[in-house]
Amino acid sequence: MSAHSDVTPDKIMQLGLGFWGSKTLLSAIELGLFTELASGPSDARALAERLALHPRSARDFFDSLVALGMLEREDGLYRNTAEADLFLVRGRPSYIGGMLEMANERLYPFWGSLTEGLRTGLPQNEVKTGGAGLFESIYGDPARLRLFLGAMTGLSMGASKAIAEKFPWEDYQTAVDVGGAQGGLLVQVCLAHPHLTAANFDLPVVGPVFEDYVASHGLSDRLRFLPGDFFREPLPPADVITMGHILHDWDLGQKRALLEKAYEALPEGGALIVFEALIDDDRRRNAFGLLMSLNMLIETPGGFDYTGADCAGWMREAGFRQTRVEHLVGPDSMVVGIK
Ligand SMILES: C[S@@+](CC[C@H](N)C(=O)[O-])C[C@H]1O[C@@H](n2cnc3c(N)ncnc32)[C@H](O)[C@@H]1O
Repeated sequence: MSAHSDVTPDKIMQLGLGFWGSKTLLSAIELGLFTELASGPSDARALAERLALHPRSARDFFDSLVALGMLEREDGLYRNTAEADLFLVRGRPSYIGGMLEMANERLYPFWGSLTEGLRTGLPQNEVKTGGAGLFESIYGDPARLRLFLGAMTGLSMGASKAIAEKFPWEDYQTAVDVGGAQGGLLVQVCLAHPHLTAANFDLPVVGPVFEDYVASHGLSDRLRFLPGDFFREPLPPADVITMGHILHDWDLGQKRALLEKAYEALPEGGALIVFEALIDDDRRRNAFGLLMSLNMLIETPGGFDYTGADCAGWMREAGFRQTRVEHLVGPDSMVVGIK
């Protein structure tokens, strides 16, 4: 017994009941708590009233968020932490809550069926109850579409800025982002490199959301939208082709088909940049990348995440003569292939 006296169940309990804290934060975002507090501090009673909360648990809810480091409380007044104020106030350009609003609305209930997904290998989202697939169900509803595309911009912002900074854009003139969503990556790249022109090749329904976002950054003369379906059509030609969080949505045959299409669309010396939360080659450290792959089980029929070495291997098989893997930020890395 004494040999194990430093062994405690703390880590197990913290992870096992991690959904308590997770759902508390997601509900706070859903209720717009951080957005309410952006206009100034508030006491528990007034805050509960503004959020239309029953008095029974309002104080416990606010103080849980204090204990979890998401709110501050001084002299009975609650205020946002610096992080919450920057990232969780709706309407601010730095808002990343879109991703978490989606997590709350869709992923939280769907992850409740993870065990079934692991047993059957089948998706556990709307598809299970006869609904449409991931993109079809989001894209059928304009409000969900905007939420999803905004969520992508927030989630990819760190990686987008790092790609704008780390890749030698001065050697190239044109770029196409395949599945570029709202335009988060292209806007960062074009703001940092005024000589570039670029296009987003995405499903037609994404066009207006992309065009609004690009116009809000004053880039409409250098950034255009090319509507299309990357499984039905060739990819538009460009010096650099980028694919962010695309390959993990699809099975191995589809991944290879997209890499081959990118190879076809590039000139000699052109570059393909694939980026997402690449799993570390030893498959033991990037927990976010590994869990993202389980999320692909929940969301798609055949999608999975992969290591940098996996992707570099597929790229070489598609014909790319050089590949390299570079860390970007947090869990995200890129694989660059040169034709
Ligand atoms: C997971 S999001 C990634 C968005 C963005 N690249 C990023 O990293 O934030 C996938 C994108 O692929 C697009 N997409 C899905 N199926 C497509 C298809 N068949 N053809 C073209 N684009 C597609 C979606 O509209 C969406 O913008």
